[in-house]
Amino acid sequence: MRKTAPSKPKRSAAKRERPQQKAPKAGAPIPMLDLARQYHSIEKEIGKSVQAVCASQRYVLGPEVQAFENEAADFLGAKHAVGCASGTDAIWLALVAAGVSPGDEVITSPFSFFATVSAIIRAGARPVFADVDPGTLNLDPDAVNARIRRTNSARIRGLMPVHLYGQCADMTRFAHLVDEHKLAMVEDAAQAFGATWRGKFAGTMSIAGAFSFYPTKNLSCYGDGGLVTTNDDAVADHMRRMRNHGSRQRYYHEEIGWNSRLDSLQAAILRVKLKHIDDWNAERHERAVAYDVLFKSAGLLSTRSAKDGARPVVRPLARNKDAHHIFHQYVVRVERRDALRSFLTERKIGTEIYYPVPLHLQQCLGYLGYGAGDLPESELAAQEVLALPMYPEITPEEQASVVAAIAEFYA
Ligand SMILES: Cc1ncc(COP(=O)(O)O)c(C=O)c1O
Repeated sequence: MRKTAPSKPKRSAAKRERPQQKAPKAGAPIPMLDLARQYHSIEKEIGKSVQAVCASQRYVLGPEVQAFENEAADFLGAKHAVGCASGTDAIWLALVAAGVSPGDEVITSPFSFFATVSAIIRAGARPVFADVDPGTLNLDPDAVNARIRRTNSARIRGLMPVHLYGQCADMTRFAHLVDEHKLAMVEDAAQAFGATWRGKFAGTMSIAGAFSFYPTKNLSCYGDGGLVTTNDDAVADHMRRMRNHGSRQRYYHEEIGWNSRLDSLQAAILRVKLKHIDDWNAERHERAVAYDVLFKSAGLLSTRSAKDGARPVVRPLARNKDAHHIFHQYVVRVERRDALRSFLTERKIGTEIYYPVPLHLQQCLGYLGYGAGDLPESELAAQEVLALPMYPEITPEEQASVVAAIAEFYA
């Protein structure tokens, strides 16, 4: 088991021999994500491992999944890792195995992907939202504390921070809240494979941590896939049963579970990619630093908040002292966001908005009773955030073109 996590990138990507890749032509489109570049760099390894699975004829769970689970647990320093069909299912498995039951309430972030909240509802619980920290956009421990005190509800049983964009939420403060309010905590680590908080890996600082291997994720497979980690033997055992129809022994069902198994082809692909994840995460970090430098030298960067209006771009706040950010996404907050996005689209530069509507304002969650103005930091972030192209293989020239286009827009 790997006992310690890197508190900063393990080594400089500049020193790593980068796989041969054709330099994109000047003026060529710059996509938000280019998975083909990664695929070309590992094509032979992937081909071999996929062929081996086909030859084995073991397609669902089986030795390949078990090997991946062992390697992922070892990488993260967790006692157990349980593969499953998606990140959405991973959150559901984590919540159920942590003891969240119908009638409970679970506090989480309103500034996340929909699965964060839908998994709570699928576990039979009611989501409760607290606002985010405007710097990191992660769930704010002060807001959580205030929400618990204001509600004074004995039904608040669960807490689920989300490690957004690849940076851990403040797990030290959340651990104190767990003790004080007797909460069951699980982590949505879907965007944070390899991120750390004070030397511990995302997904290993609570009862259970949930990961997604959706193709856009920093560690991804070639379809849907997910993983749950835990240090608790009984929780692991429960999650293994629940991912397989609540059954330990075929055709004998102890409880109502689900079909949420990881297939062997995805596991084989993930085993290949796991060997590269330290390098890829280090390269993402370097690309993020490169964006910071480019924005600064273009005179676009505000050192304070998006609201001060002095400069149009606010870089993502990385809490370097405690958190090692793996930059699953590089997300800036900008003035006139939608106009900037259209301008970049015209110049064939891909961008995304994670997320345009905070969860408490989603139409289907109206029954929870939230309205506009209830969670102002999340609502403001939804109007200002813009994710820029970010992947280990993006070239310095492409990054310079992205920042130059943004400078042109604000000139
Ligand atoms: C924060 C977060 N939670 C949960 C999920 C759900 O993962 P999946 O798409 O693998 O179901 C995602 C990914 O889309 C995510 O970004």
